[in-house]
Amino acid sequence: MKKDSLVYKLVATFLVILAISYAIIATVLSVWAQKNYIEERRNRLQESAQFIEYNVDRFVENEIKKSTLTTTLQYLGQGINQSEILVLDDRNMVFLVSDPKLSDWVLKTFPAENLEKLRLGEDQEISRVGGPDGKSEYFVYIKPKMKDGVYQRAVVIMTPEEAVRTQIRVMYLIIWTGAIGALILSAFIIYFFSQRIIIRPLYQLNEAAGKIAKGDFGQRALITTEDEIGQLANSFNTMAESMEQTDQNRRDFISNISHELRSPITSIRGFIAAVLDGMVPKDKENYYLKLVYEEINRLARLVNDLLDLSAMESGQFSMNISEVELNELIRLSIIRFETKINDKALKVLVTLDSESVYVAADRDRLTQVLTNLLDNAIKHCPPEGNVKVTTKIKGKKVQVQIYNDGLPIAEEDIKNIWHRFYKGDRSRTHKESTGLGLPIARNILSQWGESVWVENRETGVLFAFTLSKT
Ligand SMILES: Nc1ncnc2c1ncn2[C@@H]1O[C@H](COP(=O)(O)OP(=O)(O)O)[C@@H](O)[C@H]1O
Ligand SMILES: [Mg+2]
Repeated sequence: MKKDSLVYKLVATFLVILAISYAIIATVLSVWAQKNYIEERRNRLQESAQFIEYNVDRFVENEIKKSTLTTTLQYLGQGINQSEILVLDDRNMVFLVSDPKLSDWVLKTFPAENLEKLRLGEDQEISRVGGPDGKSEYFVYIKPKMKDGVYQRAVVIMTPEEAVRTQIRVMYLIIWTGAIGALILSAFIIYFFSQRIIIRPLYQLNEAAGKIAKGDFGQRALITTEDEIGQLANSFNTMAESMEQTDQNRRDFISNISHELRSPITSIRGFIAAVLDGMVPKDKENYYLKLVYEEINRLARLVNDLLDLSAMESGQFSMNISEVELNELIRLSIIRFETKINDKALKVLVTLDSESVYVAADRDRLTQVLTNLLDNAIKHCPPEGNVKVTTKIKGKKVQVQIYNDGLPIAEEDIKNIWHRFYKGDRSRTHKESTGLGLPIARNILSQWGESVWVENRETGVLFAFTLSKT
């Protein structure tokens, strides 16, 4: 367990708190237990003294023998922490003793004032009386017996101090061992649970993150708890998924670009090589140069589209939003395709909702959207077919629809046509196709918060998008 690890900090924090709490509890418990013990002992001393009195009475009345009484005293004394017991007469002379050695000592050692006080009938406790051997000390309890207000006798119970202290010490030992034991147990429990609930999942997350950092994007955290760590793992997995997706997109993108760039470059190289090698007759050179020119145009278009798209996606695309007259822009865009329209003998029907409508847009970008959609419509419309451009004003929005006769778009293509480089029918549209027209259009519109969609109609395909009126 490292010093700066989370589990160390957690366990240490909890243990400090617990140690303080346990110490407080143990101290309170110790004080209480000691007090309790002293009270208990006092009660026992009183009861024993009464019992002794009773037996002394019986002895005085000759009901029991002196030896029996002495044995009883010894036996009783054993029970009260190895105490010695003596009985004093009304002149405070020892007249009965569990151990004869003690009789002299008592009279010498006991403070006279204490003995005097006995005549008042109060029981007394004297602590730290030196023992007969001069070493050990005693706790002394004296209970006088009165008869008709006159002092008669006293019972003295002397307990070696050591015996009492040992008992208290044992009590302390039990309480504090318990506290320390509980602390150690708590440490294990805290360690175990923090490992399980926090440390291991974090370790797992960390491990997965490390692998992702090295490029292994398939890594996921396998944590299913509902707590904060579970939520973190969820977010982590979502992030990992999106990174994996981004990584895949990047790979696809590079492979697509390489593919797109290779075919024009290959044809350009072929044409030029043919001219250089003199394989092309002089009068045909111009024709080949034209082909090269077209390929280079295609390359330039591709590179421009790519740059636009990447600028849009990285958000570094400047837009000059202004008031744009939509009807005029639509007419201009269609006129640009005049040659193609005439070549295919298409019928173009333009239905505009009102005289003029102003929308908030970047003029060049809106032209780009219209051009991309018109280009597709004209490209996919069969010869002599219909192309229809319609606008509809709906409240604050204007909907622009571009329709062309032709085959409907296949169900699986509908989802994909908005993706970069996606081309529905490769063989038919290969020459003029980059697969970037729709993604660019959608990107531009979505930056304005507008939407664009496609619908298959009975006889053709309809692309539509919205704009906001100013
Ligand atoms: N008007 C349309 N009719 C039928 N299919 C279309 C139409 N417009 C787009 N598509 C399909 O969507 C694909 C992607 O279009 P786009 O992004 O403009 O790329 P490109 O025009 O370079 O092929 C096209 O290859 C085609 O399959
Ligand atoms: Mg296109």
